[in-house]
Amino acid sequence: MSKSLRGMVLRGNFIHAPLPGEVETVLDALMVVGNDGTITALYPTGHPDRGAVEAKATADGELVSFGSADYILPGFVDLHVHAPQYPQLGLALDVPLEVWLGKYTFPLEARYADLDFARQSYSTLVADLLRNGTTTALYFATVHEEATKLLVDLCLALGQRALVGKVAMDNPKTCPDYYRDASAAGALAATRAIIDYVRAHADNGEGRVLPVITPRFIPSCTDELLEGLGHLARDSGCHVQTHCSESDWAHSYVLDRHGMTDTASLDRFGLLGRRSVLAHATRLTEDDKDSIIAAGAAVAHCPLSNAYFGDAVFPLRAALEKGMHVGMGTDISGGPSASVLETARMAIAASRILESGADPDRPPEARQRPASRIDFRTAFHVATAGGGIALDLPIGQFAPGYHFDALRIDTAAPEGGIRIFGETDPDLILQKIIYTASRANIGSVWVGGQPV
Ligand code: GUN
Ligand code: ZN
Repeated sequence: MSKSLRGMVLRGNFIHAPLPGEVETVLDALMVVGNDGTITALYPTGHPDRGAVEAKATADGELVSFGSADYILPGFVDLHVHAPQYPQLGLALDVPLEVWLGKYTFPLEARYADLDFARQSYSTLVADLLRNGTTTALYFATVHEEATKLLVDLCLALGQRALVGKVAMDNPKTCPDYYRDASAAGALAATRAIIDYVRAHADNGEGRVLPVITPRFIPSCTDELLEGLGHLARDSGCHVQTHCSESDWAHSYVLDRHGMTDTASLDRFGLLGRRSVLAHATRLTEDDKDSIIAAGAAVAHCPLSNAYFGDAVFPLRAALEKGMHVGMGTDISGGPSASVLETARMAIAASRILESGADPDRPPEARQRPASRIDFRTAFHVATAGGGIALDLPIGQFAPGYHFDALRIDTAAPEGGIRIFGETDPDLILQKIIYTASRANIGSVWVGGQPV
């Protein structure tokens, strides 16, 4: 299925989850995709106009019919990816965050001064993520302006919807000499240059790539830089991404330096807004949660990475029930998977462990956190619509006005992980997809109606 779906009428099975825990399935429906790649209409069976729309599309040669074993899902939204860390995926998981950064990660990221290396690594990553069904990614790049521009170019060339940030980190007390911005002013100038580059890019007429203001995390930035980035966020209207209260060490570093939590400090610097995405956030106080919700900011839930570096499980269900915006993050390479689907599975498992507790030597009452579990429906929501809501973008759902960013799951792919034993109930099919689909089940991926 390698042709563009722009201006076409699609006939098939569609599944999406606009709300946590609530899945909508429309079997054998018609979906109309406009010439700009957005959805213009959806006609379920029984809709009075469905027959006429299908007849006209057929006559005009604009009908695309999927198979009965095919299910069209919104593309996955990965809210937290360190693009330069892809060569390290599956490695370097043996030490805590503050050691990991200096021992493995900064030396790797410093290599992106070399544009040949950057090209090879970034093109592999973007192609792999698309194959895994990630139609939108929120990327941390590196401190390097040129390599960050290259990542923008590659996302546009390969067709991925992406938000790309030059990492800002200028604190000589926490960042090595060989890998940091030389000054706050230099980091701000380079961030502005990337914003201009993305917005003026000749291939970015549809705005498929957006710039992001990216203070790495408070420990790696001086107050001067945080203040400047806060002003830039307000003036430019750009998204903001950073790490927030990720581990015991990171959380207490900010308490010691600023006398307040990460969330409160980010808010004070003007970095907590509707388009801010805070990665991890495992140590939020009740006040922090209230501030994040009041600002309309979001958390990138990175359950796999949190198992290695986070020292705790993010209480996802409670956050969603409070009304917090939450999307899924692989946190490549803190999380050793490049798949949002695998990460969603981990989110379910982590929520079950949070609910039941982990230490068998404690009595149940002392180890449990009741009502913490999420199910596959909520994990699906967070991995798709939740990410779209977090980013304030019309993605992750099938509704008029939303981009047709989608993937086709072939539940009958012989090499895939899904095995159907006569199930027809779409809730069971989705459950099998979420738990057992592998890359071989992802038959096609589209961004803005175009195959990628
Ligand atoms: N905190 C600061 N930098 C990083 C990073 O690259 N990964 C993770 N997981 N946490 C961070
Ligand atoms: Zn991260």
